[in-house]
Amino acid sequence: MTITYDFSGQVALVTGAASGMGLAAARAFANAGAAVALADIRADVLDAATQELAAAGHRVIGLAGDISDEAYVKSLVEKTVKTFGRLDAAFNNAGIQSPAVETADVSSEVFDRINAINLRGVWLCMKYELIQMRKAMVRSSTTRLSAAWSVCRVERLTLARRGSRKRDNAPGCHRHGGWQERRVDGESD
Ligand SMILES: NC(=O)c1ccc[n+]([C@@H]2O[C@H](COP(=O)([O-])OP(=O)(O)OC[C@H]3O[C@@H](n4cnc5c(N)ncnc54)[C@H](O)[C@@H]3O)[C@@H](O)[C@H]2O)c1
Repeated sequence: MTITYDFSGQVALVTGAASGMGLAAARAFANAGAAVALADIRADVLDAATQELAAAGHRVIGLAGDISDEAYVKSLVEKTVKTFGRLDAAFNNAGIQSPAVETADVSSEVFDRINAINLRGVWLCMKYELIQMRKAMVRSSTTRLSAAWSVCRVERLTLARRGSRKRDNAPGCHRHGGWQERRVDGESD
């Protein structure tokens, strides 16, 4: 079975878009017809990725910065909307891996940096994306891998009641036999 997506006329924002899964997602959104805002902390690699997509005829913009910086995240969403007129989808993918060492050997500075990006940074992206999406009240979709799953979950329930669609994608958190037992809000999907 071949699944095709049509994002014609829509606008997607992808963080961590300079490489890996973020770049793959930016390419996929662009190939499906979306205008894409690519965001990443590595300005030179981001520039190369943006140029590659632009050369292929896609509508793209590269906006370099650090998602742990609230002023940057706010301007990222604002510039995306200023450039393309709207925001329909977001892939909040930027993140860093924990060092492959035992907890006893990790400094609190490293722990703080990981949380500043993987949790607070993702939350900041969601916050400003959702402010925009709430304003537009279009059918929207936002996806995030890993740490902010619980934040996504709360927002998904909130937006679902307002008629919007969100998708969580949390490796290791997929539905299984213990799912209902772990729910704390008593609601079912
Ligand atoms: N690859 C895996 O097996 C795996 C497993 C679990 C989670 N993840 C997470 O999935 C995401 C994508 O993984 P990947 O393998 O494509 O990683 P990757 O390192 O290729 O891509 C992550 C991108 O995020 C960018 N980034 C890092 N910190 C940033 C910041 N503060 N602000 C803006 N951009 C920042 C990096 O420059 C990089 O381009 C990452 O968040 C990663 O932690 C990956």
